[in-house]
Amino acid sequence: MFAGKAPIRIKSARDLEALRRSCRLAAEALLLAGERLRVGMTTLEIDELVHKFIVAHGAYPSPLHYHGFPKSVCTSINEVVCHGIPSRRRLRDGDIINIDVTCKLEGFHGDTSATFYVGTPSAEARHLVEVTRRCLEIGIEQVRPGGRIGDIGRAIETYAVAQGCSVVRDFVGHGIGRDFHEGPQVPHFGDAGRGPRMEPGMTFTIEPMINLGGWELEILQDGWTAVTKDRRLSAQFEHTVAVTETGCEVLTARPRPLQNSEVFDEIPSRPAGRPVSG
Ligand code: MF3
Ligand code: CO
Ligand code: CO
Repeated sequence: MFAGKAPIRIKSARDLEALRRSCRLAAEALLLAGERLRVGMTTLEIDELVHKFIVAHGAYPSPLHYHGFPKSVCTSINEVVCHGIPSRRRLRDGDIINIDVTCKLEGFHGDTSATFYVGTPSAEARHLVEVTRRCLEIGIEQVRPGGRIGDIGRAIETYAVAQGCSVVRDFVGHGIGRDFHEGPQVPHFGDAGRGPRMEPGMTFTIEPMINLGGWELEILQDGWTAVTKDRRLSAQFEHTVAVTETGCEVLTARPRPLQNSEVFDEIPSRPAGRPVSG
């Protein structure tokens, strides 16, 4: 969002080095959030954790005061599509939550998010989250010099719809660099062969928001929180990527697996072994 008609800025090798450091820090903050996630904690506690980590590393949490956003991270639970505001809301067993981290380091923004399982997920939550995780991977597979931005959305939409899900249309990926939101806009739906041609040094996010029900959304009274119109679940994953001479570099790639998302403890619904009998 907010990318509008903003220019596409091609990054120099030096710009990319700074962007890599910023993106690495955002990835580390997301890993930390995943490791600390617990049933019963509030989303304000996540905000505080991420805020302190980013500031301790000499960076600034980009969402804070961005167009008036009041907190340092977006926390979007269940039917919240994006831009959830950290609050005293406590995480409950079975919730899913997207944590979206953006930081500014050495003048460059790094932007990444993931959806996490709080406790044990329902079958439908797992389906949605795993489909959405795959949507981001499929989008990334389309990134190469000479390709078109529209190739990304076409591939994501085809897969999501085949899995019985829908793709949010009101929010899109965006160019990123010295500005949080630059050109190009990167839709997660649409037509292959359309949109700007990808070239080395372009940097943008891919951040599909995928719904179990319809794609339509509403904005709550706070002016930020986007929720699905049908109040069914929504999930999202986001990476910042660079187009290279040969393909794609995932700038927010993680050095280890994401706890409570890529890996998580499953609490069996019934104890294993022999059924109880007298
Ligand atoms: N990080 C979000 C994105 O992926 C933007 C959040 S804007 C904010 O584009 F103001 F809500 F922080
Ligand atoms: Co983001
Ligand atoms: Co983004």
